[in-house]
Amino acid sequence: MRHTTENQIREIREQTKEENLTLLYYDTIDSTNTRLKEMAEEGAADRTIVIAETQTKGRGRFDRNFYSPAQSGIYLSILLRNRSLLEASHYTIQAAIAVTRMIKKMADIETQIKWVNDVYIQGKKLCGILVETLWGLKEHSCDVIIGIGVNLNVESFPDELKDTAASLHLDQDQKPTCIACLIDEFFQVMQEDFKQVMEEYRAKSCILHKEITFLWKGKKMKGLVQDINEEGNLVVLIDGKTEILQSGEVTMHIE
Ligand code: BTN
Repeated sequence: MRHTTENQIREIREQTKEENLTLLYYDTIDSTNTRLKEMAEEGAADRTIVIAETQTKGRGRFDRNFYSPAQSGIYLSILLRNRSLLEASHYTIQAAIAVTRMIKKMADIETQIKWVNDVYIQGKKLCGILVETLWGLKEHSCDVIIGIGVNLNVESFPDELKDTAASLHLDQDQKPTCIACLIDEFFQVMQEDFKQVMEEYRAKSCILHKEITFLWKGKKMKGLVQDINEEGNLVVLIDGKTEILQSGEVTMHIE
């Protein structure tokens, strides 16, 4: 079957269990998060999902690029409107779990999660998640964009990524099924008790009980990860004192 955008949308729609989704599929776009942000400002509905075959300016955290070649990955963003701040604080963790479950179902591979938003396989990054909150005039609720990029069948990475990035080896024909599965898993995880989801997240963590390096108050520090708490924050032992990390980036400290 030809991989036209219409076919992709139709196949995704046929396979997802979710209803009331607005799905848009672009061949080429700068960034699905950026496009969805513009659409949100123009009044896009809750549960609008933008998917792209390739992104010319795929974005990661800390203003990094997200390598998004054509016919190689899932690049999608989900808009959720009028959510509580507590709900919004769970999305990165829920999205990471949804990705690990999708990969288990589609490729029968166990993956790990590197706090807070990366999915890893054998020490290399397979997926990145970029959650962006849109602050409007509302005091107790917000709109959120959950952007997910998964390397499904990237043949080769540029030099700067080849030691740190990995890809699955799924057939391009499986992409609509992977996308439908990812969408279903994400909305399923959102329905589940967050405590249980955190249990699954901890079990998949590749940094729990490990020595890590991270930026702390502008300084590069080392510490031992004791726990990932109920809010999804990292509990780290630094120089004999327990500290809570709410965001940031860690690297595993491999001796
Ligand atoms: C990261 O690695 O820091 C997060 C990467 C997130 C990439 C996804 S791909 C779909 C969506 N659109 C973007 O521009 N970024 C996210």
